[in-house]
Amino acid sequence: KKILFVTSELTDLVKTGGLADVSAALPRALGDLHDVRVLIPGYAQVMKHAESIRIVGSVLSHGDLPSCRIGRLDMPDGLIIYVLICPELYDRDGLPYGDDQGRDWPDNPVRFARLCMAAADIAAGTAGIRWVPDLVHAHDWPTGLTPAYMHWRGLATPCVFTIHNLAYQGNIDMSLRRSLGIPLEACGPERMEFYGALSLLKAGIAYAQHVTTVSATYAKEITTSEFGCGMEGFLSLKARQGLLTGLLNGIDESWEPESCSYLVSPFSPNDWSGKQANAAHVRELFGLEQGSGPLFSVVSRLVHQKGIDLTIAIAETIVERGGQLAILGRGEPHIEDEVRRLAERFPGRVGAHIGFNETDARRLFAGSDFLLMPSRYEPCGLSQMYAQRFASLPIAHRTGGLADSIDDGVTGFLFNDATVESYRGAVERALYVHQNPKLLNAMRCRAMSGGFFWSHAIEPYDRLYQQLLGGRRHAIA
Ligand code: ADP
Ligand code: GLC
Repeated sequence: KKILFVTSELTDLVKTGGLADVSAALPRALGDLHDVRVLIPGYAQVMKHAESIRIVGSVLSHGDLPSCRIGRLDMPDGLIIYVLICPELYDRDGLPYGDDQGRDWPDNPVRFARLCMAAADIAAGTAGIRWVPDLVHAHDWPTGLTPAYMHWRGLATPCVFTIHNLAYQGNIDMSLRRSLGIPLEACGPERMEFYGALSLLKAGIAYAQHVTTVSATYAKEITTSEFGCGMEGFLSLKARQGLLTGLLNGIDESWEPESCSYLVSPFSPNDWSGKQANAAHVRELFGLEQGSGPLFSVVSRLVHQKGIDLTIAIAETIVERGGQLAILGRGEPHIEDEVRRLAERFPGRVGAHIGFNETDARRLFAGSDFLLMPSRYEPCGLSQMYAQRFASLPIAHRTGGLADSIDDGVTGFLFNDATVESYRGAVERALYVHQNPKLLNAMRCRAMSGGFFWSHAIEPYDRLYQQLLGGRRHAIA
């Protein structure tokens, strides 16, 4: 079957977090079963490849949404990407959602509504592209209007909407309704209205034929007031109707410590000399003293969700116990400043790089003994899977996908509450394991053998697609 993925990030071209990894890996993993193609905005990072992009279609203007061309970019491995070309909306310096200072682009409603309506045009066969999908799969708030526009056009094509993070909701002013082509009937609480605003994420939940999120535990958590971000009632209703499912993410086949080309030295279970070579490199890179004490790492967006403040609070315990900490990431400026200050406080023991690059990220997963992930909530989390593949034991809060992908005391360490006390207990257990080479070896080997690859995770997606393509009626009344 023909499936169109609609996404705002793709690791091959532009990435701010795990959504990009899933958008790049899941279509490829499904490639043997379906013809999956991806639609993405033509950001500057995408238009760098302009000479390889061939124009294949176009969409008309509508209200404030300008007309655009659609290009086709074929990746070397065969993945076909449709690029929505509209320089005035997308081709600018910065990140997908905002500038380098982290300020959201003021025209985000138009930018992402344009993407969604283009997806609906492709699904309707009116974009001049001969390839017309049998099913559309949209991801997170930037693509939330996709099933809505498809519904308002009366298309029978089913649409799956995946929530990767409920906290990012794309709530916009009601006054934008008309200019984005949103009908009045959509503005009630049973559709897009959310505390007086219009929520693009809620549009995805309301109009998709099926909603998924990225772990079974998070699927339950978001129906509660603690994790539901105000949408728990609406999501509980979907869950009761059988229209909300948690499907755990996977990782791609490149996470192989024997062959990953980013590593300083490859390694395999039971022989840690290659892992030590990566650790020595990480120590040098982060200005840490060479040695063999426990090396902890953080590879993360530096945002409130990720509990970086808890790690800053625990750092003293790590240092007192002879450990070291290397932090890689970027995000909210005040958290970046606190991380810099922490590194200044413990020279040679704590090192930080504010920024992100894939090479250093992989070397950190490979070189560290433990990965710290005290996330307040975590829909799925990929870093803890990557770390396990590279024999770095995750220390994580028992929430969302972390609870579903870490076996406490076997492949990592879980703690129950997002508090420093609870976290410290898990760090103490990790330090104990580090002093017991046999135990450490056994846990590393178990962590590396986890079956996280997408090849194990695509089956429920395929089943869901088949069910929807089989013509089950859509339950929004
Ligand atoms: P999230 O998507 O919430 O950031 P995940 O654990 O699912 O968390 O995915 C993290 C992915 O993003 C990993 O591939 C990680 O290496 C990468 N990553 C971490 N921090 C950054 C950052 N600041 N910028 C870009 N990518 C990052
Ligand atoms: C989001 C979530 C993260 C998840 C990723 C991919 O960014 O924060 O937990 O792994 O999406 O689904």
